[in-house]
This record gives sequence, C-alpha cells and structure tokens, in this order.
Amino acid sequence: MNVLIAEDDQYCRQDLSDVLQVMGHNVKSAASGMEALGLLKAGLFDILLSDVDMPELSGLELVKIIKALALPVRIILVSGKADIIASMNALGKGAFDFMVKPVSVPNLEKILSDASAGLSGQSEILEQGRVDIDRVFRQSGNSEFIFCSEKMRQVRKKIERLREYPEIPALLCGASGTGKEIAAKFIHGEHTSDRPFIGVNIASLNSGTFEAELFGYKAGSFTGADPAGSRGKINAASGGTLFLDEISEIPLAAQAKLLRVIEAREYFPVGSDHPCKTSCRFLFSTNRDLPGCVSAGAFRQDLYYRISQVIIELPPVSERREDLIPLAASFILKLNNTLRRDVKYISGEARELLESHTWTGNIRELKNVITEAMLFSEGQTLLEHHLMPFLLRCTLPQNENNNSLLVPGFNLEIHNQKLVDEALGKCSGNKSEAAKMLGITRRKLYSRFRVI
Ligand SMILES: Nc1ncnc2c1ncn2[C@@H]1O[C@H](COP(=O)(O)OP(=O)(O)OP(=O)(O)O)[C@@H](O)[C@H]1O
Ligand SMILES: [Mg+2]
Repeated sequence: MNVLIAEDDQYCRQDLSDVLQVMGHNVKSAASGMEALGLLKAGLFDILLSDVDMPELSGLELVKIIKALALPVRIILVSGKADIIASMNALGKGAFDFMVKPVSVPNLEKILSDASAGLSGQSEILEQGRVDIDRVFRQSGNSEFIFCSEKMRQVRKKIERLREYPEIPALLCGASGTGKEIAAKFIHGEHTSDRPFIGVNIASLNSGTFEAELFGYKAGSFTGADPAGSRGKINAASGGTLFLDEISEIPLAAQAKLLRVIEAREYFPVGSDHPCKTSCRFLFSTNRDLPGCVSAGAFRQDLYYRISQVIIELPPVSERREDLIPLAASFILKLNNTLRRDVKYISGEARELLESHTWTGNIRELKNVITEAMLFSEGQTLLEHHLMPFLLRCTLPQNENNNSLLVPGFNLEIHNQKLVDEALGKCSGNKSEAAKMLGITRRKLYSRFRVI
C-alpha cells in the first residue's frame, strides 16, 4: 500500500518509516500536518498514519480537512495517552482507527491489514439511493441521444418531425455544450443512414478561401489551388446533410451566395460558369444571439429568415436536470468499454453531487467530469470522492445580470469548500491569513470544515 506518515518527531517518523518499509509498503513522510496535506492533495495514498499532537496543523485538524476535501485516504491516528479521547471521537468522523504510542508492530500490522481489507471492499459498499447504470440507460431508451426531461422530449418530437423533410433547413440554437452537433447528427440519422454527414465549422474557415471550401473550384481557378480542382463541401454532402456550425461567423460577402444555394439549390464553383445543383439537407448552429447580429448589421436579415424557419432550441442543463443521471449513465457505459472499466453503479452521494452541480459548461462539462472521474475510479461504484476533485476545479457560476451566485444548481457546500481551499492556497496554508481573507474568524474557518 502507499502509506504517508505525518509526524513532527524525527525519530518516531524514521522508526515508523523503517518498520513500514520492512512490511513492504511504499512510504513517504511529512514532518508537519501542512506538509502531509500538500502531499495528499498532490498524490494518491491509501493510508495516512498521522500523529495527533503536531504544531500548526494537528492530526485532528488534518482529519477534518481531509474529510472536507473528500480525499480518498484512510486515516489512522497515532496518539499519545493524553489524546486518546479526542482520537476516539475522531473515529467515524473521518478517522479509520487509532493507535496509542508507543506503537507495537503486531498492532500496527493488524490495523493496516483491517484498513487494506476495508479499502478493497470499499467499492462494494452500496449506499442507499445508488444508481444502477444499466437500468437507467435502458429506461432512458438505449439511445445515443438522451432525452428524459420534458423539454428534451419536446425537442425530440420536433426533430423527428423535421427528419421527414430534408428540404427544410433548420437552425440549432443553444449555449456551448448543450448538444447542437449531436442533435444535428440525430436529425441526419447518423446511425441508420449511409448518406454523408458533412460538418463544417465556419469559424475555422479562412475568409479568403471560404467560398472555395464550400462551393469547390475549377482546376487552376486561383493561385495555390489544387491543380485537380475541388468538389467542395456542398457537393460532398450530396444526398446527405451539410451542417454549418457557428453560422454567425460567416463573412458578409459569402452570405448572399449561401442564401442563393439554400433558396435555388444551385451554386457556382469558384472559377466556373456552370451551375451545380444540390440535394443536401442544410442544418445550421449557433450559440450566439443571431437576431442581435442582424440588428448589428453583421448578419443578413434575409439569410436569417431563411435558415430560421425551424429553430431547435437545446436547453441548458440547468433547465433539464432530469437528464443528468441518464446522460452520466450513457457516458459511463461507453467509457467502460474504452477505458476497460466495470463501473455498474453511481453512489447516492455521488448522484446528489452530480444533480446539485451548476454545469455551466453543460453536457460537455458533465462528459469531461465523468471521464476524468472514471480514469481515477476503482471497483464497480463511482463515488463522491472520484468526482469531487474535478467538480472543485470548475469555475464558480456567475450571473451576469446581478452578480448573484444563486443560479440554478448552486451548491453551498462546494462553494464554501472552493473558497476555503482557494484562500488556504493563496496564504500557503496559513489559517489566520486565510480566515482574514475570507472575512471570518479563525474559529469560524474550522467550523466551515466541520459543516461540510
Ligand atoms: N442528449 C445527449 N445525449 C447524449 N450525449 C449528448 C447529448 N447532448 C450532448 N451530448 C454530448 O455532449 C458533448 C457536447 O455536445 P455537442 O458537441 O453536440 O455540443 P454543442 O452544443 O455542439 O457545443 P458547442 O457549442 O460548444 O460546439 C458531446 O460529446 C455529445 O456527444
Ligand atoms: Mg458544436
């Protein structure tokens, strides 16, 4: 096992380290509680063997912080006789066990063996309210495109209707990460169709070569052109779907030409006098306020009306929280294959955490958090502490209108913890300074840890 020793007495530290190494463990040592905390945050340890009585940050304070940060380590306190009652009280509040000095080797062996048995069995502990991933995925329709909330059911209904009419263009709107591209693929019928789906990110196209990319060009029509000419994206999408992502970024000069293609289903490759016909479905997406772009003169009104006959609005996660767990389940099932894991459940606490997070980055953020958590998870249950480090890293939600933090999905515990963590980090762990920065007393700072 990976064992960290926190002990301010140099001789005790060395003795413990020697004994543990002889037992075959990987051992690291810290001369203070603060140093131990730094090492715990940076790496993965199975066991922390911590002295209780240490200056600056005692073993008991360390237990509270570790619990508050949900760091996945089992803590064994090593106490002097004077600290026995406090150590006993720490049991169940974060400490796994405690030993009284002087430490006897058989006792140490027994406690470590209990702790390691607990560790391997930990993933099997099934809390109430846990999520059975297979069952949730089956209930959500076994689909690549998850839609359980009422809002998404409406979206799906609209999409299914639209599917029948490839000649009608549609605009997919929604904040970043809400699923505009996956919805476009669903409209196209990616998994049931062998017709092409051509996605073009307009923002990534160079305005000079925009038309050539989209409409194609004749051989030798401009310097630097491919001598064989190019068929262009519209032609490549023949019989299928052309998905123009971030349509607000299209150069003004190209807008009239695009309008003509959509209306007349006809276009001229660069350098050609012969019109080409197209039969593809046009889908557009934007995360910007297109009517606002029209008012600002950056987007042609006639083009806007043409592409927005059907608008599919992908709601942010904050308006469809019922989709969160089915989405998480579908990501976990896929990741089980790619990462060769066997995660079958989400614990009740982990589920609450997922449901209460703000998800300003929407479904993409959820997917990223689940992917990272899966990388570091073990066993069959995704637990709170697998998710916590990645959720804590996310930015605090901001409400642009009134700077209120109380946006949907607000979670006081995570906010408190982020702020306390940030303050401690900025003050290199100095609690008096951190408390000052947070505008609270040192005593309150401790009680914050207790609350969480
Ligand atoms: N309803 C859904 N079911 C399953 N997966 C989804 C769903 N919505 C989004 N996703 C997944 O979330 C991720 C982000 O979705 P997508 O790329 O479609 O978002 P987007 O709206 O196009 O974002 P951006 O504006 O940043 O380009 C993708 O990996 C996608 O597969
Ligand atoms: Mg996209």
